[in-house]
Amino acid sequence: MVSPSSLPLRSVILDTDPGGDDIVALFWLMALKQRGLIQIAAVTTVGGNVSAAQTFRNASQMLSLLGDTQTPLGRGLGEISGEDASHIHGADGMGHLSQQLPPPIHSWNTAIASPRLIIQILEQHPQQVTIVAIGPLTNLAQAEQMKPGVLRQAKDVVIMGGAFEQGGNITSHAEFNIYFDPIAAQTVFASRSDLVVLPLDVTHRLLLSQTQGRSLTAAYPHYEPARVLQQLWDFLTTTALQYRETQGELGFLVHDAAAIAYLCYPHLFTFQRRQVQIETRGEWSRGQTVWDHRLLPQQPNAWVACDVDVAQFFTCLWADFHASFAQAAPPVPPSDPYRP
Ligand code: RIB
Ligand code: CA
Repeated sequence: MVSPSSLPLRSVILDTDPGGDDIVALFWLMALKQRGLIQIAAVTTVGGNVSAAQTFRNASQMLSLLGDTQTPLGRGLGEISGEDASHIHGADGMGHLSQQLPPPIHSWNTAIASPRLIIQILEQHPQQVTIVAIGPLTNLAQAEQMKPGVLRQAKDVVIMGGAFEQGGNITSHAEFNIYFDPIAAQTVFASRSDLVVLPLDVTHRLLLSQTQGRSLTAAYPHYEPARVLQQLWDFLTTTALQYRETQGELGFLVHDAAAIAYLCYPHLFTFQRRQVQIETRGEWSRGQTVWDHRLLPQQPNAWVACDVDVAQFFTCLWADFHASFAQAAPPVPPSDPYRP
């Protein structure tokens, strides 16, 4: 097995709107950090699934639960401009679990604005930091507007968002992260020519099943983050079924985890080189991500994932979660009916 020390350390800004699948992504990122494969330069929160104030609080509580009191946390600017996704993630964005979690360890009133924190880090470490954007692109667009060209100072920009050959999830044509702030998406998709995009075309196949989830968390009954995760997953399973996203299977889609998988396991995906445009005005198509099918010259701005090896994706996810949980709390072997 390749030892982590033999791989370059990747530094990451996670821009997020927690949100249940955002929490899966955060857990995975922390597991990769524990293995020495990545370092987290900052977590920057944004309004989306729920309000900017709530996503900030959720991220702070989750970082506290995971014992991370050092990672800088940014606050999103402005309030929700579109309909949120609380119908999927719960009014608090955390499956109504926020009261059970440790209190927030960051102050909304004194927190740095997410766009400002993004600019600060990219200017201090040009071409060294990857932005992983798993919420609406509001923060990235505001950073670009405040400092034109700053997004090109990122080593790369990885986005969970969009829907191309696949229908939308928040409308018939649009995916939530793009739909929520299409003007911001338009700014980001004009900012550089090598965006990495993980759209619904691949994430709609990433079903975290209730069976698989329970087999993980049951092995660590004494590890609080595992217990919290299981309750969150049970909630998301109920809402996912209502929204007919899982073909009747018990589980939910881990859209945002696809962006984390790309960081260390890019070979799980197949990409197309595309020129992506954002519909910002359509009555029925607002927030749609559009590419041109005609055989005409194009000026590509993105690498868009069009396929994923689902089995290998979850092999990597479970292996990293087990390794992370086992480091924190030795697993309890499954009860052996044959052991006296
Ligand atoms: O469309 C999926 C995206 O919208 C994910 O980022 C999920 O968290 C929701 O925000
Ligand atoms: Ca998200």
